[in-house]
Amino acid sequence: MPELGLNDGRYTGFATSMATREFTTNSAEETIALGYKIASGLTPPKLVLLRGELGAGKTTLVKGIAEAFHAASQDDVTSPTFTLVHEYRGPDVNIYHIDLYRVDTQRQLETLGLDDLIAGNSILLIEWGEKFQRFERERDIEIAIESLGENQRIIRLKGKSLGGHPLKERQES
Ligand SMILES: Nc1ncnc2c1ncn2[C@@H]1O[C@H](COP(=O)(O)OP(=O)(O)OP(=O)(O)O)[C@@H](O)[C@H]1O
Ligand SMILES: [Mg+2]
Repeated sequence: MPELGLNDGRYTGFATSMATREFTTNSAEETIALGYKIASGLTPPKLVLLRGELGAGKTTLVKGIAEAFHAASQDDVTSPTFTLVHEYRGPDVNIYHIDLYRVDTQRQLETLGLDDLIAGNSILLIEWGEKFQRFERERDIEIAIESLGENQRIIRLKGKSLGGHPLKERQES
């Protein structure tokens, strides 16, 4: 596991259902390392929305998460821009990396058959999922990445599952 080299994240929520954690990274490598840290608190099944502008670092974060679950090496995780869904099968957890940037209609969405992927041992990581209300409703965790410049990113996590999240315990110790 790579060196984290991150701040510890600031706990900005009060009610656990509204918990928000905030991190700053200063390179793609640090964002990948944060992906490892986030993965340590993710137990399937989970639906995770990844928000942020083009080039914010959503796919970069997935590299860390997928590698942490031994589902793929970071270099093998590429943007599902045209294929829309990439599947990375790990020994215990299957990661589905989904990019809805080019999906505009309900009908197109349905052809992806995402419902079939929401199984007991799967974690869905969805880029541009906020385009569809159902994912805003159904998501367990939302990770928003904001670019502050060429290499600096603020990464905010919030979600219903964050209450008993190891990240929170670590942050409070
Ligand atoms: N701190 C950082 N965290 C993440 N990526 C960074 C950081 N600093 C620089 N980068 C660079 O920013 C780019 C992020 O690209 P990435 O494909 O992860 O974005 P994305 O949010 O998935 O975009 P898209 O919506 O187009 O799929 C990469 O080239 C990465 O090397
Ligand atoms: Mg991407």
